[in-house]
Amino acid sequence: MLYYTLKVVEIRPETSDTVTLVFKQPALKKLKYEPGQYLTLIFRINGRRYIRPYSFSSAPLVDSNIEVTVKRVSGGIVSNHIIDKVQIGDMIEAMEPLGDFTLNNEFVDDQTHIVLWGAGSGITPLVSIAKYALHTRCVKHVTLVYGNRTTENVIFKNTINQLKLSFGELFSPWHFYTQFYVSADEPYVVKGRIDAKTVLKVMGKEKDLSNTVHYICGPAGLKESIKETLKYFGINDNLILSEDFEIERDAKLLTDVITRNVILNCNGQSTEIKVIKGKSILEAGLDALLELDYSCQTGNCKLCKARINKGEVKMVGVKLQHDELKPDECLMCCSFPLTESIELSIE
Ligand SMILES: Cc1cc2nc3c(=O)[nH]c(=O)nc-3n(C[C@H](O)[C@H](O)[C@H](O)COP(=O)(O)OP(=O)(O)OC[C@H]3O[C@@H](n4cnc5c(N)ncnc54)[C@H](O)[C@@H]3O)c2cc1C
Ligand code: FES
Repeated sequence: MLYYTLKVVEIRPETSDTVTLVFKQPALKKLKYEPGQYLTLIFRINGRRYIRPYSFSSAPLVDSNIEVTVKRVSGGIVSNHIIDKVQIGDMIEAMEPLGDFTLNNEFVDDQTHIVLWGAGSGITPLVSIAKYALHTRCVKHVTLVYGNRTTENVIFKNTINQLKLSFGELFSPWHFYTQFYVSADEPYVVKGRIDAKTVLKVMGKEKDLSNTVHYICGPAGLKESIKETLKYFGINDNLILSEDFEIERDAKLLTDVITRNVILNCNGQSTEIKVIKGKSILEAGLDALLELDYSCQTGNCKLCKARINKGEVKMVGVKLQHDELKPDECLMCCSFPLTESIELSIE
């Protein structure tokens, strides 16, 4: 894993609760990333280390600086720290770019129509993908479907308008508002949330549905209704990519999990931690102030991988294919203790 120390050169307010942090590209060790990937920021707050991923809102070959855009989460430790405490000139530690929610896959080429579906802060990786795809003309058409409560909540309003002005026919931005009066003469501005009806409306209006590849970033409910409705248009699952900012854990899947002690072997040290019912093994280890490697906490980056030496764990909400983990491996961010005497090793 490569680590970078990045200098904040600008802090740009986007909405009342969202800012963009602009970092200077390091002079020697340039940070290379793909649109749709994320940057993992590392902070020390009140003596504890916190690690959080933020999707790039800048795009390679388009923006000279590196940008991430952070929305305040109520009670959230790092998002509030970034918005209230980080200043221009601060040096922030970051991991190398991670993530596979990118254009770089076998299904996208210059004949592809990409459709980007997002709500709220889920716009960040989508705007990076849109900017890159339009500027480099690596796809045939870009549609963006973006849901918000009101116009005040729209992040990157100017960027989206500017892209429409610059790229005209190549770009179709749609805005959906749940709490906003919409006039009849703006057909691409619609009252309502992004749900099955919305998908039907957008897809019904798009002339060319062949060769579409879909990118979804937003809450779980949004993702599921878009995926379900895209099936109606005959779009295959492998042409629908999604990014989760947070995993909502289904309590029903954790009914057989109770509070237990787990031994973690890490850096030649063995520590026994108490994993309270409902917390993942990673969260319990971090609460015990162990400096464990992690980033996404959604089962995607694999940085929290551990070997199970003893006992059984239950993995919940993991996106990986089964062949990406060996039978005796688990991802601690999605793992919950199932038996007594669990012992894990982190290599
Ligand atoms: C791949 C990836 C990319 C991401 N990109 C972005 C991005 O571009 N911009 C951005 O603002 N955030 C992004 N996030 C979310 C971000 O990493 C943090 O989770 C978020 O800022 C909250 O961190 P926190 O420390 O403030 O909250 P915490 O202290 O970790 O959590 C406080 C409470 O808020 C809830 N919570 C955590 N995350 C969210 C969330 N995203 N929305 C609503 N509630 C939440 C938690 O369940 C908890 O109850 C991304 C996450 C992932 C996995
Ligand atoms: S922290 Fe990314 S997979 Fe667990």
